[in-house]
Amino acid sequence: MSILIDRDQRVCVQGITGREGQARTQLMLDYGTNVVAGVTPGRGGAEVLGIPVFDSVSAAVATTGAIDVSVLFVPAKMVREAAIEAIDAGVKLVVLVADRVPVWDAMAIAERAAARGAEFLGPNTLGVLSPGRAVAGMLGGRAESARQWFKPPLPTGVGIVSRSGGMSSSTGYYLGQAGVRISTIVHVGGDAVLGIRIPEAALRFENDAHTEAIVVFGEIGSSQEEELAELMRAGRVTKPVIAYIGGKAAKEGTRFSHAGAIIEGGRGTHAGKVQALRDAGATVVDSFGDLAAATVERLKRAGGSSLMSQAERDAVWTTAVTRIAPNSVRVRGHDISNLMGDVSFGAAVYLILSGALPDQRIGRLMDAILVASIDHGATPPSCLAARTVASTGASLSASVAAGIMSINRHHGGAIEDCARQLARIIARAKSEATSLEHAANATMVEFKARGERFSGFGHRIHTKDPRTPRLFELAAEAGVDGAHMAAARALQDAFAATGKPLPINVDGAIGAILADVGLDPALFNGIFMIARTPGLVAHVVEEQTREKPMRRIDPVKHAYDGPVVS
Ligand SMILES: CC(C)(COP(=O)(O)OP(=O)(O)OC[C@H]1O[C@@H](n2cnc3c(N)ncnc32)[C@H](O)[C@@H]1OP(=O)(O)O)[C@@H](O)C(=O)NCCC(=O)NCCS
Repeated sequence: MSILIDRDQRVCVQGITGREGQARTQLMLDYGTNVVAGVTPGRGGAEVLGIPVFDSVSAAVATTGAIDVSVLFVPAKMVREAAIEAIDAGVKLVVLVADRVPVWDAMAIAERAAARGAEFLGPNTLGVLSPGRAVAGMLGGRAESARQWFKPPLPTGVGIVSRSGGMSSSTGYYLGQAGVRISTIVHVGGDAVLGIRIPEAALRFENDAHTEAIVVFGEIGSSQEEELAELMRAGRVTKPVIAYIGGKAAKEGTRFSHAGAIIEGGRGTHAGKVQALRDAGATVVDSFGDLAAATVERLKRAGGSSLMSQAERDAVWTTAVTRIAPNSVRVRGHDISNLMGDVSFGAAVYLILSGALPDQRIGRLMDAILVASIDHGATPPSCLAARTVASTGASLSASVAAGIMSINRHHGGAIEDCARQLARIIARAKSEATSLEHAANATMVEFKARGERFSGFGHRIHTKDPRTPRLFELAAEAGVDGAHMAAARALQDAFAATGKPLPINVDGAIGAILADVGLDPALFNGIFMIARTPGLVAHVVEEQTREKPMRRIDPVKHAYDGPVVS
């Protein structure tokens, strides 16, 4: 789907406490990058935007687990030490944003990377961005703008590789305007000594199933474009290449903006690069303004699976939930026919709500949560509302809708309320540097003093709700046991210590578990609605087929007359 960066990769930010580090981490998070740790020597134990900060990359790895990509917002002089530290800690890709990194330092980093099987991008790079998935570095700026400009691959896109930071974004922007989708944008940096260069990026794009063609923004100096032409002639890069080479008017010996953009001894000339690429079969445009149109033309000849349809281009608003095109249904990017039969309903609910497929264990846990809430007899307000409306002769949809409308703060809403209250206990324990137990107890005392109920604890009917221990058991099997579940247990113990035990109920258990799974609490009421709808349908149909219209429905005096199975 992309090269170098994807949404599942675990990313670390070195220099996260600095000015750019903080600002760019926010933008990366907004775009969906999985930033798991930050590093600044001497700042271990701090937090930036909710991300834990460590003194070293190895400390970050020891606590949070292996890191795939590290982005360095570290000033030039410190880059060598910081990059080597990351490589030694097992990071496989380091992105060196700083400019003016000494050439010798870049060479030392290259040597260590080669020895450890790692790679680096830069120095002096804006980084890499995979549209709709993740960004490592500064490419794209505001997440909202990046989403509008760069169209994700569906099913493919073009790979963009550029030696110019500003032109990386501009190339992506103009291609998007022309209806071209993008798999990944790579800014290799403008320095003389670089990690991943145009030829290496092109080889990656060649091997990426979701890249249809390669668009190159090259410039004079170095031999990167000539090496790409060589790869094309050798049949190692077979995908269409469309290129623009900057610096046509530069004279020999004059540095053209970047340190690496200089013609020396007749090497790296504009004419030489254009000729080499054209001879190898690339489309090379003379003016940057022609690059997008030339790409569209070349894609049409190649199959054009990276071109947006006219309907997509005419769209005045977009949705990221489901894409419908003739003969194609994609939910959150997944072909529905592949999901069918392969993923459970719980996993599909998780996918459509969060945007990503859960692993099998979380999918099973989601199934259990949906099953746990499927029905709770005829007394809950939603069921009484649905049956009452059904008894008037209303349709199935109107009756079920009436039930759904009664799901609110005090019915089903306890799931979200409980998760948010548990989060406040966790935050309190952190800010007061105390234990969860202490924070839970203090919170409980305050609630009691105000005469308020704590959502998700106690039950009108059950003293030992059979669903709660089973859900915790399944959560443990799925490897879910985070701070919210610990806070819920601490609160339960605090209630028990008062002599008036108030056990966690099914809503509380679901709220704590879903929060520890990492889903947004704003979804929790919706998950309850999804789970309860089959129960409401069953009740409404039973009401319509068994009972007399306009009967007086007693909310309490009723009995079960179905079978008992197990
Ligand atoms: C890298 C760069 C962005 C940093 O700028 P900055 O954020 O303003 O710098 P700051 O001094 O605020 O922050 C740097 C942080 O790195 C930290 N740092 C230093 N050495 C470190 C190391 N080895 N590991 C981790 N962090 C380190 C510093 O302690 C500092 O954090 P602090 O402020 O909390 O102490 C800047 O030097 C730069 O090169 N800018 C140009 C980048 C560019 O345009 N590149 C692409 C061109 S196309």
